[in-house]
Amino acid sequence: MSPRGVEDARARGKTVLVLHGPNLNLLGVREPNVYGAVTLEQINERLHALAGELGVELEIFQSNVEGELVDRIQEAAGVAHAILINPAAYTHTSVAIRDAILAVGLPVVEVHLSNIHRREEFRHRSLISDIAVGQITGFGAESYLLGLRAAVRVIANSRGRSLKTRRPLKARRPA
Ligand code: DQA
Repeated sequence: MSPRGVEDARARGKTVLVLHGPNLNLLGVREPNVYGAVTLEQINERLHALAGELGVELEIFQSNVEGELVDRIQEAAGVAHAILINPAAYTHTSVAIRDAILAVGLPVVEVHLSNIHRREEFRHRSLISDIAVGQITGFGAESYLLGLRAAVRVIANSRGRSLKTRRPLKARRPA
């Protein structure tokens, strides 16, 4: 195993929650000149294959509904060890997703297929990037794979910290 592989082995068995925001279900047919020809299903397959190599578990969820993404983030507390998210259009607008991330305190890696900084000005601002561990933007479907590697590295490096003691927020939600 490479030295990097040894480091990453500390993340073995841990779970990464992968969240895809609105309209990403249309990848492959949606503006292929911007987002490429790869479908969401193919991205998820590639993520699963890489997760297998890295020895981590994935939970993958796509929604066009902001509140459903918020729910999944809340439910990740005490269950997942990191979140890999492409918030799509909510990147630029969602205080609710930002607040959910802050509430659960899990490390977040933000990814985008396109380079949001080379596009319209309203896409330059992300409400997530300053609370994320980092942002990977502009590498097409590869952004997700780079993001998963980054998330695994973050988990490996956070061993023994507060992740262990965190309790599910879900338990505190009203019925
Ligand atoms: C995106 C960029 C966002 O500005 C846009 O709204 C998306 C996709 C990307 O992956 O490049 O839906 O997050």
